[in-house]
Amino acid sequence: MMIKKAVIPAAGLGTRFLPATKAQPKEMLPIIDTPTIQYVVQEAVDAGIEDILIISGRNKRAMEDHFDRNTELEDRLTKEEKETLFNEIRHIADMANIHYVRQKEISGLGDAIYYARFHTGNEPFAVLLGDTIINSVIPVTQQLIDVYDQYQSTVVAVEVVPKDKVSRYGIVGGDKLSDHIMEVNTFIEKPSIKEAPSNLAIAGRYILTPEIYKALEQTPKGKNNELQLTDALLNLSRKEKVMSVTIEGKRYDIGNKLDYLKTTVEYALRRKEFAKPFYEFLQQIVKETDGKNL
Ligand code: G1P
Repeated sequence: MMIKKAVIPAAGLGTRFLPATKAQPKEMLPIIDTPTIQYVVQEAVDAGIEDILIISGRNKRAMEDHFDRNTELEDRLTKEEKETLFNEIRHIADMANIHYVRQKEISGLGDAIYYARFHTGNEPFAVLLGDTIINSVIPVTQQLIDVYDQYQSTVVAVEVVPKDKVSRYGIVGGDKLSDHIMEVNTFIEKPSIKEAPSNLAIAGRYILTPEIYKALEQTPKGKNNELQLTDALLNLSRKEKVMSVTIEGKRYDIGNKLDYLKTTVEYALRRKEFAKPFYEFLQQIVKETDGKNL
């Protein structure tokens, strides 16, 4: 079956980014001038997906406004003959067919995904975490779809992380089928270094089949007393094939302050209009600081 729908969980409280996330979603934090969630939607669109369900929540309305039209702003830009900006703003409302459902309580990623069941029905679908962007040549969602097409089963994106970071992620273990594909038989959410079956971490992108909903129903609450998608995937892997693919690309976790800063710097250096002056500024500031205050 073709992957025609994507689900973007974006209901988290953003506690790692307070106070910025007290009254606005972390998914709206901009990387230079573009909100994180717009990069995520763009990745789905680049993989041929036009139907997107955003799992939203309280304090998240700015996301809906962002993907809607803003006719007052459009009128102003027209009057001021700012055509390029007008087109850019107008285009955002037409990127995809975006739907929203609100997660009523923050009860984990598994619970958030369970809200998508009426929307995705009997179809397989992509999941893209709303606070994670990935810079790659081939959109990571496309990399997963390619593996899904080959195996017709659940696919999880993974990447190698340093051993001392395994407790931040869902970690997988299994049998290698090729350089980058594995059949997974172990999933552990945020294990200790000792418990971790490998240093392959779930990287915030998935292709799920409708069977995930039954698996979620049969999964008890896990880490942090929340329903974990990782635990449901472990249950599912006992009944049917679950594959992992080591992604080609660089992942950025926007919900974490230091990663956010690094992301902004890297993306600024990739932007034509900022690359040179920003690079010169960085060189200057590094020279001036010279390791002081570290
Ligand atoms: C979630 C998942 C985890 C995954 C991570 C990737 O955790 O539960 O398995 O590795 O996203 O960012 P969170 O970051 O929401 O705690």
